[in-house]
Amino acid sequence: MTEHGDTRLVDKILKLKQKRNAVILAHNYQLGEVQDIADYSGDSLDLSQKAAKTDADVIVFCGVHFMAETASILCPEKKVLLPDLHAGCPMADMITPDKLRKMKKEHPKATVVCYVNTSAEVKAESDICCTSANAIEVVQSLPEATEILFVPDQYLGQYVSTKTGRPLILWPGFCPTHVRILASDILRLKEEYPKAKVVVHPECRPDVTEIADAVLSTSGICKYARESPETEMIVGTEIGILHRLRKESPQKRFIPVSEQAVCPRMKLITLETVLWTLEEMAHEVKVPEKIRVRAKSAVDKMLQIGSK
Ligand code: 13P
Ligand code: SF4
Repeated sequence: MTEHGDTRLVDKILKLKQKRNAVILAHNYQLGEVQDIADYSGDSLDLSQKAAKTDADVIVFCGVHFMAETASILCPEKKVLLPDLHAGCPMADMITPDKLRKMKKEHPKATVVCYVNTSAEVKAESDICCTSANAIEVVQSLPEATEILFVPDQYLGQYVSTKTGRPLILWPGFCPTHVRILASDILRLKEEYPKAKVVVHPECRPDVTEIADAVLSTSGICKYARESPETEMIVGTEIGILHRLRKESPQKRFIPVSEQAVCPRMKLITLETVLWTLEEMAHEVKVPEKIRVRAKSAVDKMLQIGSK
């Protein structure tokens, strides 16, 4: 796409967005040009809070399916659109409601904490939801002796368990993008950039989070980059975040741990699909009412806790 073509597309999107009274929400891993046309960029927690508060009639969700579902859970009266229905999260697909029900039968007294990277049906089977920004606080909010099932991210679960000292029963899910971020690559980069701080996402493997200076959600990483005096950072998460980091702190240097840490589903959303969504008012993501009400209880409990 030429710069000229991009400008025409952006103009069309902005005009149509106004006509539809739509808000565009973009996750921090979206393509740079998509983040740039969004009303808000953020992590899963930020975006669900923005969805809950918006007075727009339409929410165009530039992210993956579970994020659009969370917006629909919180705002059933709004039309939530996902520009590409194939934009799903493989980790969220690693647990199904049937598998979770079976696990609950094996642990009848347990409280289920589900990562927001789950389907609405899995949230409906859970007691409380969490995101990478508040998982520690959510687990700490449960009474000490509670038996806790944590689904589906085993690495986020292990990290939370280490930080809180609470034993968690884990599900063997993982993010196929974050497992590509390796401790050996970080150690090599630390030799090359000895002054750089290492900031990573808690979906990374435990040997990665152990050697990091900070373990944060995607918006947490952006805040750390903006507010800390550090001028060089080795970044262990999906590379889409580099756009926002470089835009917000152009004088600083951000070194990705791996150029292969790409979430292909996030990248399905483009300026073209955003325009198409607004033209056709498709694809709508709507959670059936019975499931929505149960899932909302888990999400609301999380939102009451918030994050640090
Ligand atoms: P954040 O909520 O930290 O943005 O993470 C979402 C995600 O899918 C990370 O892979
Ligand atoms: Fe899912 Fe991983 Fe992509 Fe995040 S980066 S949406 S966890 S596959």
